[in-house]
Amino acid sequence: MIPENLNGAPILELRNASRRHGEGERQVQALADANITIVPGEFVAIMGPSGSGKSTLLHLAGGLDIPTSGQVLVEDTDLATLSVAQRAVIRRRSVGYVFQDFNLLPALTAAENVAFPLELDGWSRKKARQEAIARLGETGVGELADRRPESMSGGQAQRVAIARALVGPRRLLLADEPTGALDSTTGTAILQVLRDRADNGAAVLMVTHEARFAAWTDRTLFLRDGRVIDQSGPSDPSMLLARESR
Ligand SMILES: Nc1ncnc2c1ncn2[C@@H]1O[C@H](COP(=O)(O)OP(=O)(O)OP(=O)(O)O)[C@@H](O)[C@H]1O
Ligand SMILES: [Mg+2]
Repeated sequence: MIPENLNGAPILELRNASRRHGEGERQVQALADANITIVPGEFVAIMGPSGSGKSTLLHLAGGLDIPTSGQVLVEDTDLATLSVAQRAVIRRRSVGYVFQDFNLLPALTAAENVAFPLELDGWSRKKARQEAIARLGETGVGELADRRPESMSGGQAQRVAIARALVGPRRLLLADEPTGALDSTTGTAILQVLRDRADNGAAVLMVTHEARFAAWTDRTLFLRDGRVIDQSGPSDPSMLLARESR
């Protein structure tokens, strides 16, 4: 299926985006002059050594952090022009984020964790729970709906965190090592879930160490010392049409 909004504007654009931490000799250039455009339907992998800036890139894309120079646009809106509260609304409504350390709320059950952003957005408790249960089912942990994170394995908690990123009409999915705690069969199942989202018109940006996942993605960005040093695969929307006709 060709996504309807294939010809739409980019969902994510980084324009010369840089992020420095600290001052003087202790300054760290976590990301340097990144120029990245992701359109609806694209599934992009980010690879690179530890400390190369992968999480920094995702934080900027998700509006969790703002660049020290350059711009980050989500659906044509420069995130730096928004208030903290406005950025939080975009994160909740349009952006699904899978954190490297999961970030589940320990006092809430799996279903409550997944439903939480929806309830904040005004969904009824019942409708939010239904959506949460469906997404937990999609990531293969439906039976954990009423369990708290403390009683889950790392892989189970990771799949709950992925389900939370999938709720509602998310147009941009940002996933930081979403399969890091999963065995290879479960990891492959999650890649299929992310691929399906992209095929239905979302833009997906995933940090991974697993080269074998390149087969599922449209292109890979390689980072080193905060710089995008290489991109494999086509970067323009016509490649999506090429993929459809394979
Ligand atoms: N809050 C911070 N203060 C100072 N330096 C930071 C901060 N956050 C990140 N850095 C530095 O920025 C660089 C990039 O870090 P980042 O977390 O983006 O790397 P990464 O590629 O995600 O690594 P990993 O694979 O280990 O998760 C590193 O040198 C890191 O030490
Ligand atoms: Mg990281």
